[in-house]
Amino acid sequence: MPTTKDREKRQSIIDACRSMNALGINQGTSGNISLRHGEGLLITPTSTPYEAMQPEQIVFMGLDGSHDAAQRPSSEWRFHLDILRARPEINAVVHAHPIYSTILAIMGLEIPPIHYMIACAGGDTIRVAPYATFGTQELSEHAVRALEGRLACLLEHHGMIAVGASLSKAMWLAVEVETLARQYHGCLQIGTPRLLPKAEIENVLGRIAGYGPADK
Ligand code: 13P
Repeated sequence: MPTTKDREKRQSIIDACRSMNALGINQGTSGNISLRHGEGLLITPTSTPYEAMQPEQIVFMGLDGSHDAAQRPSSEWRFHLDILRARPEINAVVHAHPIYSTILAIMGLEIPPIHYMIACAGGDTIRVAPYATFGTQELSEHAVRALEGRLACLLEHHGMIAVGASLSKAMWLAVEVETLARQYHGCLQIGTPRLLPKAEIENVLGRIAGYGPADK
């Protein structure tokens, strides 16, 4: 029987899904979200329109991947689970197919340090995880590796992942990553953008720690 707190968390996932589409960082039901919960995680159900999604449809999954057999978790549950297992400091995982991030991912282009805000994703680049079929363990392993020391990555021919200590931080970062992707795409129309030096990104990393919405 879900508790009130449980229900609030489930609803916050649904609200975040709806805002992904309203913010223009996702379309249809291609995105999925998970939130650490007790000894496991809460994750969106597969191929369910966000407008119709109900709190009881959000799937509770144990850290061993177990869940109520009557429920159907997101097809991407493997990377949600593996990221939360590998990264104890992370509590929320947002996956979407934003247009500009996905254009770069299709072209196999990582995002270089074109703007200091790249430091919000934890380093001087946003890497591209090599392609693997959606929903596979192989894709999950590529994603966990591309996220090492980072809070976001692109997925080749697929989309983007942003993670955070809270759902509001992960959602905020997802929008920042798509903004960086859009800026980089725009720069490439004009020529080869100049990049910020690694030392400056190190400097920004020190100053920007904790930037973003309060955790809740
Ligand atoms: P869902 O299974 O969460 O609907 O995911 C669709 C998708 O696009 C996966 O990348």
